[in-house]
Amino acid sequence: MTGFTKTILGTGLCAALIASAGFAASHSSVTNKAVAARHAQMQMIGYHTGVLGAIAKGEMEYDSAMVDAAATNLRELAKLDGTTMWVAGTEQGATDGSRAKAEIWSDAAGFAQKFTDLENAASAMIGAADAAAVGAAMGGIGGSCKGCHQDYRGPKS
Ligand code: HEC
Repeated sequence: MTGFTKTILGTGLCAALIASAGFAASHSSVTNKAVAARHAQMQMIGYHTGVLGAIAKGEMEYDSAMVDAAATNLRELAKLDGTTMWVAGTEQGATDGSRAKAEIWSDAAGFAQKFTDLENAASAMIGAADAAAVGAAMGGIGGSCKGCHQDYRGPKS
């Protein structure tokens, strides 16, 4: 695949992510604080992905310090110790506003691996030297969101 094609793919994927992040921000009430905290983790992940997407699309000027900061924050957010937030008994249906599938707890190793995938994709973004390189690395980040959401995030409720 040429660098150009990769850029277009990355950008398209990213636009979809930003759109879904905006939509998700308006979800219904959450009473459980652990659920609220992991939503905040995901919102932060969505925000930093949006910064990188805007740079890939040329909506925000390329700036290496901004790219590295966004990618580093994304990596660190993926590395947070989720013990406090991904608490057993808070799956979708058990508490308001949760879309966490029960598989998060029955397949904890698989879920952890998905966070490692995001961590690795974010690390690969660090040092992207121009907007096209940001676009090319965007595919890995978008793929890691999708990979986890497909298996571990339940339907809209
Ligand atoms: C390791 C798994 C995993 C990865 C990786 C992941 N997510 Fe999520 N995400 C989830 C789960 C599970 C939920 C639902 C959590 C809940 O409702 O309790 C979620 C919810 C969200 C939400 C909704 C938050 C809210 O306020 O309701 C957004 C936005 C989001 N993810 C964005 C992203 C983006 C962008 C990426 C990639 C850069 C990403 N996620 C990567 C598992 C993941």
